[in-house]
Amino acid sequence: MPLPSVLVVRRVPSSVLELLRQHCLVDAHEGQDLARDELLRRVADKAGLVSVLTTRIDRELLEAAPGLKVVANIAVGYDNIDVPAARARGVVATNTPDVLTDSVADFTIGLILAVTRRIVEGDRLVRRGVWGGWALDFMLGAELRGKQLGVIGMGRIGAAVAARAAAFGMGVAYADPSGDRPASTGAGQGTRMSLDELLNTSDVVTIHVPLTPATRHLIDQRALARMKRTAYLVNTSRGPVVDEQALAWALGEHLIAGAALDVYEREPEVRADLLGLENVVLAPHLGSATRETRTAMAELAARNVIEVLAGRPPITPIG
Ligand code: GLV
Repeated sequence: MPLPSVLVVRRVPSSVLELLRQHCLVDAHEGQDLARDELLRRVADKAGLVSVLTTRIDRELLEAAPGLKVVANIAVGYDNIDVPAARARGVVATNTPDVLTDSVADFTIGLILAVTRRIVEGDRLVRRGVWGGWALDFMLGAELRGKQLGVIGMGRIGAAVAARAAAFGMGVAYADPSGDRPASTGAGQGTRMSLDELLNTSDVVTIHVPLTPATRHLIDQRALARMKRTAYLVNTSRGPVVDEQALAWALGEHLIAGAALDVYEREPEVRADLLGLENVVLAPHLGSATRETRTAMAELAARNVIEVLAGRPPITPIG
């Protein structure tokens, strides 16, 4: 039996390529995103596709690859995949949950500290050479102890952020606006609230929902207007969950105290009005970016491909 062929759309650790090569013929692309027509051409004869969150897996791609059996996304989010269209063609789709939970939760806490304690703003000031020295009231931030963290989306990552927040003395409230989780999820990790109540009462709001039609622009002008003027917004989920234009307006008008973003509506573009604001921390989609986690994600994707192409169930199927 000839080995099944697999397209890998981005550079992955060599250990992961070696693993794949033990089971498959591998066509590995090393650079940034393949141009769309090149992607469609190279996937045409493949049984497996190792994709990333910028690879659009839609009907057109699925039609271009009639022998495709598995799409393994190196990401926990899968808004780039038309899952019903894949399912309709018998293509198994997988993602990489669990292996990135801790690194994303750590990074979220990092962003919370960065924005509430003005760490990045302070770094900019020191580099500009305008620091005048210590003063009792210089660059004061907000304390976390005794404050309320509002977690939107109490899934794996939301729960891991909530657990870390407890160590900082924060109380936790949570809301699951997409309503796809049982009410018991998150029990013991805080007070369940409606989204509006969470926005009204939280000192730091952190977003951990997947991007779906129901969560697109979940945080819009109306939602931002509900937040306390002293509150901070943190987003490590997907950019389009927040209406960025409304956020830039709210930050500019000081309707909220600050924001920290790891994700954007049109990555890698960042709006000029956000770039000009001091009260927002802007990270380049680094939530899961540790050597350990990115290797684990790529390896899990490879193992999903190997399992499915061997006729066994995937390890982490989507849906
Ligand atoms: C990264 O954004 C992921 O979904 O894994």
